[in-house]
Formats: sequence, structure tokens, C-alpha cells
Amino acid sequence: MSEVRDQLSRPLRDLRISVTDRCNFRCTYCMPAEIFGAGHAFLKDPQRMSFEELTRILRAFASLGVEKIRLTGGEPLLRADVPALIHFIKTELSVPDVALTTNGWLLEKYARALRAAGLDRLTVSLDSLDREIFGRMNGQGFGPERVIRGIDAALQAGFAVKLNMMVQRGVNDREIVPLTQWARARGLNLRFIEFMDAGMHNGWERSQVVPAKEIVDTLAARWPLEAMAPAYRGEVAARYRFLDGGGEIGLISAVTEPFCRDCNRARLSADGKIHTCLFTALGHDVLGALRGGADEAALRNFISRVWGFRTDRYSEERAERLARGEMVEKAEMSYLGG
Ligand SMILES: C[S@@+](CC[C@H](N)C(=O)[O-])C[C@H]1O[C@@H](n2cnc3c(N)ncnc32)[C@H](O)[C@@H]1O
Ligand code: SF4
Repeated sequence: MSEVRDQLSRPLRDLRISVTDRCNFRCTYCMPAEIFGAGHAFLKDPQRMSFEELTRILRAFASLGVEKIRLTGGEPLLRADVPALIHFIKTELSVPDVALTTNGWLLEKYARALRAAGLDRLTVSLDSLDREIFGRMNGQGFGPERVIRGIDAALQAGFAVKLNMMVQRGVNDREIVPLTQWARARGLNLRFIEFMDAGMHNGWERSQVVPAKEIVDTLAARWPLEAMAPAYRGEVAARYRFLDGGGEIGLISAVTEPFCRDCNRARLSADGKIHTCLFTALGHDVLGALRGGADEAALRNFISRVWGFRTDRYSEERAERLARGEMVEKAEMSYLGG
């Protein structure tokens, strides 16, 4: 196995794949329904990576030292071959850490198959327990009950489930305490994500970001907390433990406390383009190279070159670039893999 480093000496360790850009939700902060009337369209089937193509591209990534792969989207469970893909990554590529992020809508159906396939970690997104708030945020009027049944099925299948709560001021910030209470009672590790300026369509405003520090202060007033040391370099979530033994929480503060300097993550879009940052529209067409006849060595070369030229640190530059009035073109999170 060889190792590649970018221009800031960051190794390539972590890969996030959007296995499909499609979704059964229309979250207002990610894929608002209105964008479909405004010219946005899902990829066509032949544009997406097939199972076989994915396995070949992943083999090249694994041979370059990727040790963590997250399957996401879009909604990854809309692809019926996801358990088979996980089985391949675990058994053929021996990747130590394989994770999946889902909105939970189809989880009751898939939980056992995901476990049997060897999935190591599972994250379910749940922004609110309140029917009205949740329905408004997912853009479909769906209540949280079915997602909760999916979480229960995953727990029964043996997963230690993590929850993602995307926090947006004035939308679901009053759900921080109730959701924490609910997660603590079930032994679930809840992670709060600051509202990010991903994509071009979610109407992001800085004033709607609830800083991670404010979330910690709110929770600590109710349940005393202590900061935990990072488990490894490049860990995205800052972790805190409840002093009463009620488990831990994580905070992903991409806006208020950027973590670019340790970022060792590449992203693979649903149509097989490598993006070296969540906040760049520039993708490098590895699927095109494969379809053009590249073998494994050529794919490895392609990926090494892309990573070797990488200089991205958007989150650290955000304030400065926005203050300059700079227009930054970004790809949608569902396409790129959130
Ligand atoms: C893009 S989704 C894809 C996986 C799956 N569909 C889901 O919702 O879990 C992955 C994660 O990104 C988060 N996300 C999407 N748009 C976001 C934004 N603008 N800011 C912060 N988090 C966002 C979601 O809340 C979710 O937890
Ligand atoms: S956050 Fe996930 S569930 Fe919501 S629209 Fe985006 S991809 Fe779909």
C-alpha cells in the first residue's frame, strides 16, 4: 500500500461516497423541493456509477491508504445493492471502518442486512421529534415515527447508532434539549451539525448558524458536561461526556471552528467525480477515466495526482472570502455526499 499527501501534507485516509444523488426527502437545508422547478435535475441512471465501477474505483482508493469509507448521498438506502457493496468493501478490500449515513426512512427494512454485510457504524439523521417541525424540515410532511422505528430496528440488529441533528436557528433550535433527553434515554450518541453553506440553493445565512459553543452551554446548564480528548487526529466531531454517566455528544462546527488543517477526506460524487473539499464544484472525473479504459494502476495514478495537488481549506477561508463578496461555486451536498 502506498501513501499520498496533499500540498499541506495531509494524507488521504477517509473517503465519503454519494452512492446516489436521489432522495426520498426534500430537506429545506439540503435539497429544497423548489430547486426542481428551477432547473435542478437528478442524474440519469447511466451517469451514476454502477456496482462494478464502484468496486474498481474503491479498490484503487483502498490501495492508496484509505481506511475509512462512508456511504451516503442523497439517500444511500435507495440503492438496493448497498449491503452487497458493504460486503465487498469489508471482505475484498478489508477496509477497517465502513460507515453509512441515512435519513432512516428505509432502515427498518435494511437494518439486519446492513449488519450482516459487515457495516461497522451507522448514523441516522433526525432533526426533530416534533411532527410539525420534522415535516417542515424534510419538505415532505413526514413525521419522525418511521425513522424512530428504523432506529429501533438498527439497535436490535446490534448497531451502536449515532444521530445527526442539523441545527438551524429559528427552525429547530428549540429541539436541542428534547432530542438530547430522548437520545440519552436510549443510549444514543447525538451529534449536532452547524447549518452549513453547502450547495447553491439552501438560502444559507450566517445568522441561522447556532454555534457549537452555544449548544454546549445550553446542554451543560441542564446536564454538566466535560470535553473529551479527540480519539484520533482529524476527528471531525468535538466530543463531550455527560458527568452523570448519560453518554456523550458530538459537535460538528464546520462554520465556527473549521477543521481544515487536519482534513484527510476525499469525496466521490454519484457520477464518479473526486472532490477534494465539500465546498468546491470542481470534480475530477475518475469514472470517465475508468470508462475510457484505465486499469487499476492508472486509476491509482489519477487519484494520487488529484490528491497531490490539493490545497483546499475553504472553511478556514470562508469569512474572508464572503467579506470580499466573492461568489464561491459549490456542488450540492446530495450529489457530493454529505
Ligand atoms: C446530505 S445527508 C445524506 C445522507 C442521508 N440522506 C441523511 O440525511 O442522513 C448527510 C448529512 O448531511 C446533513 N446536511 C445536509 N445539508 C446540510 C447543511 N446545509 N448543513 C449541515 N448539515 C447538512 C444532513 O443533516 C445529514 O445528517
Ligand atoms: S439531508 Fe439527506 S434526507 Fe435530507 S434531502 Fe439531503 S440527502 Fe435527503
